This record gives sequence, C-alpha cells and structure tokens, in this order.
Amino acid sequence: RLLGGIGGAAGVAALSPSMLLSACKNEVTAGSGSDAASARGPGTRAVDVDFRLRARPDTVPLLPGAPSEVWRYDGALVDGPANTLAPINASYPGPLIRLCRGQRVRARLENRLPEDTTVHWHGLHVPPDVDGQPRLPIKPGENMSVTFDVRDRAGLYWYHPHPHGPDGGRVGFQSYAGLAGPLLIEDDIERGLELPDGDQQLILILQDRSFADDNALRYMDGMGAMMARMQGFLGDRVLVNGRPPQTRDVATRPYRLRILNGSNARIYKLAWSDGRPVTVLGTDGGLLAKPQRLRYVTLAPAQRIDVWVDLSDAQIGQRLSLVSDSYRAGMMGGMGGMGAMMGRSALPAGARFDLLGLRVTDRARDGRSLPQNLDPELSPPSVTRTTPIRRFEFGMRMMRGFSINERQFEGAKVADDEIVALGDTEIWEFVNDTMMPHPMHVHGLQFAVVERRRMTDRRGWPDLDSGLVDAGLLDTVLVLPGERVRIALTFKDFEGLYIYHCHNMEHEDNGMMRYYRVRA
Ligand code: C2O
Ligand code: CU
Ligand code: CU
Repeated sequence: RLLGGIGGAAGVAALSPSMLLSACKNEVTAGSGSDAASARGPGTRAVDVDFRLRARPDTVPLLPGAPSEVWRYDGALVDGPANTLAPINASYPGPLIRLCRGQRVRARLENRLPEDTTVHWHGLHVPPDVDGQPRLPIKPGENMSVTFDVRDRAGLYWYHPHPHGPDGGRVGFQSYAGLAGPLLIEDDIERGLELPDGDQQLILILQDRSFADDNALRYMDGMGAMMARMQGFLGDRVLVNGRPPQTRDVATRPYRLRILNGSNARIYKLAWSDGRPVTVLGTDGGLLAKPQRLRYVTLAPAQRIDVWVDLSDAQIGQRLSLVSDSYRAGMMGGMGGMGAMMGRSALPAGARFDLLGLRVTDRARDGRSLPQNLDPELSPPSVTRTTPIRRFEFGMRMMRGFSINERQFEGAKVADDEIVALGDTEIWEFVNDTMMPHPMHVHGLQFAVVERRRMTDRRGWPDLDSGLVDAGLLDTVLVLPGERVRIALTFKDFEGLYIYHCHNMEHEDNGMMRYYRVRA
C-alpha cells in the first residue's frame, strides 16, 4: 500500500483533512515507554506500528505546467492503526507520520537513491543507533530497520536525511530535493484539551525553492553556491506543503495551525495580515504551560510552532492571511540581493509574502475557546547556581563555512570538552560573534532556553528577536548575531554518540556540526 501515488492530477490532492482526527483512539497503554527495560532496546514487547519508508527519485507536479524531478519518501503501513501515514500533496514533502506517545515503532528504511542517506527523527528522544546520524548511513540499494519507543510529548516533529560524506554534508541537497516530512505525536494530555482537530487542524510545511523555466528544482548553482555557503540557500519562492501557497475556505470557529519551517536557511517572521496577535500554543517539543500572544513569531529552520486562530467572530466573506512579514536583515541577509545579481534570483532574506489565505465561507457553532492552561506537567530541566556551563563559540572560516569552538565536523571524533555524563543537567552557552544567525540544534533531547542576552549591537537583526518564542521545550534555538543564548539540557536514558549542529543546512553541511558523547 504505497501512499501518495503520483500520476496526473492525483498528485495534487491536498492533505485529506479527516486524516488529522486523532490517531490514538486505540492507543496502547502497555509499557508507556518510560520503563527501564525499553531504554535498553527493543526487548520483548511487540511493535505497535510498523511502516516502510522508501527514499527514491520521482517526478511530481509541484508547480502548474511540467512536473519536477524530486527525491521523495514513499510511506507504506505494514501494521498498525490505519491512519498512521497520511499523504501530503504528492508526497513532496514526505507523508505525515502520526504516532502516539507510548507506542513502539518499527521503521523499515529503504534507500533507492544513487547515494548514501539516513533517516533522522528530528526532535525525538531516541537511542543513538536509531537516530539516523551521519555515521550510520544506508548505502544505495540497501535497507535498515530501526525500532524505538515514542517517549516524547505530543507535538509536531519531523524526519529528514542526515548523510555526511568526505566532501561534506548532503542534508541540504537531499531535503531540498524532497526528502523531509512531518511527524505528529499525540498524547492524553493534549487530547484532554480538545483542541481543534479534523479539518480544523492544518499542517503547514514552509520551504523556499527556486525553479528553472522548465520547473526543474535549482539548488546552489552558479555563483549562488558561494554565497549560499555563507548565508545558506534562499529560494525565490516559498512552497507550503510542496505547492504554491493556497487559500482555504473556513468557517466561523477556531483553527489550529501546526507550522514547520522545513527550509534550508530561511527564517520566517510569521504574522497575520490584519495585525491580530499570533496566539502560540506550543513549540518544538509540544505545548506550553499557557498560551502566549505575540505580534509576530520568528521561526528559524527546523523549528515548529503551534498556533491557535479564532475566527468565531469573523464575517462571512472575510479574508485573513498568514504572512511572513518583512524584517531588516543584517549584512548577509542584504546580500540575498547580491546573490540575485550574481546569477541566482533569491527572494531576499527579509521579504514579505503570503503563506496561507483563509476565506470565511461558512457559519459554524463551535463551543471551543482557548484553554487558559495547556500542559501543567511541562517540566523543563531545572538549573541552579551550580549547574555547570559548557561554552560553544561560533566562528567563521573564510570560504570554509562556520566553526564551533574553532572546530568543524570531524565525523564521530569527540573532543574532551564534548563529553557529558548520563543523567546530568548542564547549561550550554552558545556565543554568536559571527554576522549570521545560527539555529542551533541538539540531537536526542528537548531543552529549555534559560537566558538570551545581547552582547553587542553591531550585527543585530533587531526585528527578529522580539518574535522569538523561547518558552516550552525546544530542540532548535536561534542564536542571533551578537547574542549569547543559554539552554538547559538533561542527558537522559541513552548513552553514546549524538550530534549538535547549526540547522542552517548549508552551514551544517559545510562543517558547523560536531558529535558529543553521553557517557554512563
Ligand atoms: Cu533536523 Cu541533525 O537535524
Ligand atoms: Cu535533529
Ligand atoms: Cu549557522
């Protein structure tokens, strides 16, 4: 049962709304995933969900006119709840994987690409050997089966490749080509809130792309490649769920938007066209303790945001758009224009554009109102005066990308100051004295931001900082130029090698990535 079959118009069907009704109706309660036995590996418990994910080249319609060659994931359910996998528009990006906290999952990964790949479960607290790291590639034509327990809170996570060869990383290329997809975890706490679901819950994956006249995807060609090494790839248009932004008919009721920035390097400043505040329910690692209202939300690559929008009082015919508002980019952002002059037409880093139109066409009575409290059990790692601080300073290497503590990626080689102890809580301090923002991501866990401080003003991207949502649990935090950001992390359950890196994919591929070791 392969999903997202392409062929004619079938490929352009939108994600079927009913697919977003709860997947966890017959949730397994046995072994909630927190027992010590499962921490040691698959053990004896049977799997609850078993699916296949095949990476392969294909041709799919992305824009009107000629179809585009892409690399994509085919998903096929082997065993488990029928709505575990849902196609998203021509399977570019990959299918929506829906899991419930507590499930044991088997994923059968198949590489039908002409080069190495991996499948990384971004944001999930899983053991190192199933994390899809660069040191465990799947060769062309080969398969790998991984089993893990879903231990994470309800939230929108995602999956994408993570290969890194002797010539650098291929994360940017492979995810740009289409290998990325959303992974939604549900749990009882979230279900108890009765937030909008079904067709009142929309998943939006934001990815900027550039196309040639024949609709072929363009990546890092010409002189743009040099520029992209420094600023990351910026496309000249934004696709939402793999197609040009759409307008949807909606009713007078609340909606829930689950937004993933799946772009290689673009930072969005999300706002509503009528100036209403953005109501945030959650971030990377799930729900906040309470909703937050912001004028706009800064969403860096790999980050997710969970948004509530209430149209109960709207008039029939009223329109509202989710936009990425313009911001004043720093020096490198301004060079998006220079990229264009050098043969690559980039939408400048700070341009304004529409992402989703909502048109109110129906009246609906819906008793839902915004809950005042979301997750009372949210417990970020707690820090004290004596919590050790580990410092990571970013630097720039002329023509060779960015570094962390003067080092670049060296495979699984771990330095003495990159070893942490199992069970410990630490503060990691990211210091950005470069002229680019760096969305820093740590594998294997969710962390909490404990401090964000501006050290210098000289390289600010000033109007991005007030849209940052540092609350809740994150796996990716944006560190703006001139800033020092402190996060608290606890290394739980699994020992071994994980990576941490900048999630600007071109920075990562060009060496802004390192391994760290959790030692028992
Ligand atoms: Cu989105 Cu290293 O990952
Ligand atoms: Cu990750
Ligand atoms: Cu970076």
